[in-house]
Amino acid sequence: MAGRIAAIAAREILDSRGNPTVAVTVALDTGASGCSAVPAGASRGQHEARERRDGGKRFGGLGVRRAVANVTDVIAPALRGLPAADQAMLDSRMLTLDTSPGKAKLGANAMLGVSLAAARAAANETKLPLYRYLRQSLFTDVTGWSLPTPMANILNGGAHAGWSIDFQEFMVLPQQRSAAEQVRCGAEIFHVLGRLLARREQPVTVGDEGGYAPRLSGNEAPLKLLALAVRASGYRLGRDVRFGLDPAASEFYRGGVYRLRSERRSLHTDAMILRYRAWVKKYPIATIEDGLSEDDWSGWQRLTAVLGKTVTLVGDDLFVTNTTRLQRGIDQGVANAILVKPNQVGTLTETVAAMRLARSHGYQIAVSHRSGETTDTFIVDLAVAGQAEYLKAGSFSRGERVAKWNRLMAIAEQVAD
Ligand code: PGA
Ligand code: ZN
Repeated sequence: MAGRIAAIAAREILDSRGNPTVAVTVALDTGASGCSAVPAGASRGQHEARERRDGGKRFGGLGVRRAVANVTDVIAPALRGLPAADQAMLDSRMLTLDTSPGKAKLGANAMLGVSLAAARAAANETKLPLYRYLRQSLFTDVTGWSLPTPMANILNGGAHAGWSIDFQEFMVLPQQRSAAEQVRCGAEIFHVLGRLLARREQPVTVGDEGGYAPRLSGNEAPLKLLALAVRASGYRLGRDVRFGLDPAASEFYRGGVYRLRSERRSLHTDAMILRYRAWVKKYPIATIEDGLSEDDWSGWQRLTAVLGKTVTLVGDDLFVTNTTRLQRGIDQGVANAILVKPNQVGTLTETVAAMRLARSHGYQIAVSHRSGETTDTFIVDLAVAGQAEYLKAGSFSRGERVAKWNRLMAIAEQVAD
């Protein structure tokens, strides 16, 4: 018997940066229930759905009491009695409650909390693990259990690390066959990198996503360090470990140029593309996310023409998990992969739509956390269910990041059985 929504509760909790965020519990009339906690970005795309924040004095304006009230006072009465397993109906009902641009009225944080908690409640009712429930209900055309490769951000810069360097993320992509071996490889490199930094009298404190945040001169220095750390860990560069970059270029795009403060220079779009091309020849870079700014569409076209055959070019701020923007990218030959962050769009149904659109046009999928996270591991199950090529979940430190890798290893054991 399919459970119907009996009650929805919401609370203000803290995320990994100590900022308020929304936690939701959906209870069904069958007794099953499900919880979710919503993450928050720091280098947010301009075209993302809007979070509802209180403003005023509490938490420096970041309180979410209004979003919580929107869940309990507006969304809950509208969803009560609906079947939890009908995700499309729940989400479209919520969309009718807020037709403002970017879900600004209710808040994407309020909506996503309900959307994900409802999915979890429905999964719990079936007694299936979440990834199996999501597969059978939302990804019926996907078969097999090929798990996502970790994109592990072990060196942080940009907005996640006090702008020690301009580029935001330097990731390792372990190429081993099993999740456990990939996690082991990434964690070993992380620790060796820490020792290399300590020897150079660099701080080994970590940034928002748990990677080191050294103050280096220029944006290529991290790649040299990563290469050293991979070799010193006994892994083969390129064979065992590849690199991923997320410059998050929208963050330093001003007046038509890319302003690289750590290098004291500005680069035009074509100079950025030449730089990436040179780095791809020098380092085993498999993925570049947001290599250019979110509205530099013609630049993205040229970047894709130059590197799209050999490198996975991921649109994060560019696509914001939005089918309209992704469709534009597909039509214009822009990028060949999408970063999927449910809170960029605000409902599970819309998130899955973006994944399906990507898949049907041969775009790869990287399901991603945010820099402000909780210990909720929903994204891992989502990545597995939708057979994403990558899972982006930060480094091998900080509980909210490690929770995701641990979940991935647990799922890997289950699907191997
Ligand atoms: P954010 O950054 O969560 O701070 O927006 C993550 C990313 O750019 O991938
Ligand atoms: Zn990004």
